[in-house]
Amino acid sequence: MVFDVHIFVCCNQRSGDERLSCGEAHGLALVAAFKKHLKSVPNMKLRANKSGCLGICDFGPTVAIYPEGTFYVGVKEADVIEIVESHIKGGKPVERLLLKK
Ligand code: FES
Repeated sequence: MVFDVHIFVCCNQRSGDERLSCGEAHGLALVAAFKKHLKSVPNMKLRANKSGCLGICDFGPTVAIYPEGTFYVGVKEADVIEIVESHIKGGKPVERLLLKK
């Protein structure tokens, strides 16, 4: 199955390492929040998955949204509904959470 929108939430846990990792923050809670809020989006094939490290560890928790390849960083549970409403439903990325290139 091909999804209209596929969301990858880093849940990497790098125990014993000094670097930050999203799974030690609240990555799993973000996956649950996306799964909950995606139910409110009609007529689209959507999926939210936990993922391994997405390579942007210092700014996590990190969320990648495909097919466009948008990366959000520093995502909190309270941000999920805004991402779903603005980005997924409205097609407008949440600027304040975008990874600055
Ligand atoms: S640990 Fe989450 S992006 Fe690397």
